Amino acid sequence: MQKITVAIDGPSGSGKSSVSKEAARRLGAAYLDTGAMYRAVTWHALDAGTDLADADAVAAAVKAADLFISTDPDVEKVTIHGTDVTEAIREPFVSEAVSAVATNLEARAELVARQRAIIAAHGRIVAEGRDITTVVAPDADARILLTASEEARLRRRGLQLGGTQSAAELEAQVLARDAKDSTVVNFQVAADGVVTVDSSDLDFEQTVETVLEAIKAQA
Ligand code: C5P
Repeated sequence: MQKITVAIDGPSGSGKSSVSKEAARRLGAAYLDTGAMYRAVTWHALDAGTDLADADAVAAAVKAADLFISTDPDVEKVTIHGTDVTEAIREPFVSEAVSAVATNLEARAELVARQRAIIAAHGRIVAEGRDITTVVAPDADARILLTASEEARLRRRGLQLGGTQSAAELEAQVLARDAKDSTVVNFQVAADGVVTVDSSDLDFEQTVETVLEAIKAQA
């Protein structure tokens, strides 16, 4: 099969993880969730008692992290030093702390290098995150920015978390995280050559089909 690298970026709740994973399945490609990598090293730093305000300590913890992430779209698995953290990295305490790692430039450089190595090791891969179209894989065969209105994003986020948090808490958390993340990566506006897919008024199947069409048109 022909080689293909697909890069997909977008904010929280744009549906990019589930859409990217399904696109990967239909393309017979691997799937890389780079947000899960940021979450895993954040879990590791917290577990090791690292002071997240100490930039050098955070960078050192990330560089030392023995991280494994499954690239099979049908197997969700993330381990740190052999500990399965697949579920733990989705906990609110990780979501709240992750921007401290994501805004650390040395930590980002380390994760970007690991992401490039994973992408290079696969002939066919869909990689998603915040800076894949611009920093990790600017030469990807297809590059997409998946957006959704604030209202649609918060609605989906609420569904994903199972409604355990109040709408106000959720809104504050998601907007604060996107605002912090935006200080180091631009995932709100498409870079040159990146195709925007707005999923606000599309259901899941329509979004997957639109993304697959955008991939075909570029690759
Ligand atoms: O996509 P997800 O919400 O799981 O990402 C978690 C966090 O990881 C984001 O809020 C962001 O801080 C960081 N991230 C990043 N660059 C990426 C992917 C995720 O900074 N490529």
